[in-house]
Amino acid sequence: MKRVEQAKKILKENNQSKILKILENIDIEKQEELARDILKVDFEQIHRLYENRNGKNKRKDNIEPIKYIDKNKLNSKQRQEIEKIGEKIFRQNQYAVVTMAGGQGTRLGWKGPKGTFKLDVGENGKYIFEILANTLKKTTAKYGKEVYWYIMTSVENNDETINFFEKNEYFGYNKEKVKFFTQNVLPILDFEGNLLIDSSYKVKEASDGNGGVFIALKNSKMIEDMKSHNIKWVYVCGVDNIMANMTDEILLGLAIKNNVPSASKSVKKAYPEEKVGIFCKKNGKPAIIEYIDMDKKMIYAEDEDGELLYGESNIVGHLFNIETLEKMADYKFDYHCAIKKNSYLGENIKEVLPEEPNSLKFEAFIFDGFEYLDDMVILRVKREEEFAPIKNATGVDSPETAKEIYEKYYEV
Ligand code: UD1
Repeated sequence: MKRVEQAKKILKENNQSKILKILENIDIEKQEELARDILKVDFEQIHRLYENRNGKNKRKDNIEPIKYIDKNKLNSKQRQEIEKIGEKIFRQNQYAVVTMAGGQGTRLGWKGPKGTFKLDVGENGKYIFEILANTLKKTTAKYGKEVYWYIMTSVENNDETINFFEKNEYFGYNKEKVKFFTQNVLPILDFEGNLLIDSSYKVKEASDGNGGVFIALKNSKMIEDMKSHNIKWVYVCGVDNIMANMTDEILLGLAIKNNVPSASKSVKKAYPEEKVGIFCKKNGKPAIIEYIDMDKKMIYAEDEDGELLYGESNIVGHLFNIETLEKMADYKFDYHCAIKKNSYLGENIKEVLPEEPNSLKFEAFIFDGFEYLDDMVILRVKREEEFAPIKNATGVDSPETAKEIYEKYYEV
């Protein structure tokens, strides 16, 4: 059967009448292009995503507070002992960092990849990627071994990200140690579960969330690459925290000492309503709950000392041993659904620019993988030393707040 006929049949079978109309009403060349794209769509997955869009099949979870270790309450003897354990891995060059840089800087109002944003610090300003490279260079200087650096991009920003690194000569980082890999995409749906087609006659898609990092690492053969370098531990973090301490001997030492497959960093919540995910136990397993999924009772709950019961904020810094990182790619993630505004091609083949949110975007969250871990270490670190995210154009978590924290710490 010809490609276009095959696509029509599939669209009919999957109740995609709107797209079928578009396909029937465009000229032959464009029909071929669109049909090719439609044949790539996994409609079973689309149905699953749409059916579960409101978390319909979710059971009632049992949520409890989780224990954490406060880095700054370790005495010097404990610190030394733990650091020593962690240092060994760095000396043997068995450590890698993954920077998740696939998200779009929409909230920041920046058109390019987020890491190419220049923050007004130092004499001439510094790009986010430059700041991260400089941080890693310090570890290289300390151990005489270059940390392997894997950067996750998206289909949208991959070329631009690589070109940026090339143009800036990797900010003095050894190019051989830097690898790029691209995360997957998922189709965007309208409220009735129809695919959206964009103005270039392609199925509209978006990145599959930072939980896509595991499958992307596996499919791009980066796990194999890590194994070939005998890497044992991998720190996975977001691109937007310019204060990220990505090579923390204490975090690593604690994970090894406690014999856990994973460890994450937290900071104390600044105020109950702060828009961060918090660490907890869900049905007996480590978990993070995003702020939008917390009810008031949970947000304000306090312990007997008046501290927030759920006060350990996620700063997107997660350490995994290589076996766990690899296994995560085989787990089935539940996708979260966000309602977004997206332009699309109408049945009359004219682009529609909606004024209100009109579509469903699906994302996996990296920390949902914790449900497959029996235990992990949560390490509370100081906000002023390790957390300055750049998310919004102004106000909280903006270039302005990040600059303040950065300059105070580095006293520039
Ligand atoms: C994230 C955390 C939240 C935490 C907050 C702290 C998640 C899902 N949420 O919220 O719990 O308190 O940071 O700052 O981790 N990314 C990709 N590809 C994607 C989506 C995201 O690489 O498809 C990267 C982003 O570039 C960013 C990181 O993942 O570096 C966090 O992503 P984002 O989805 O923006 O989460 P936040 O709302 O910032």
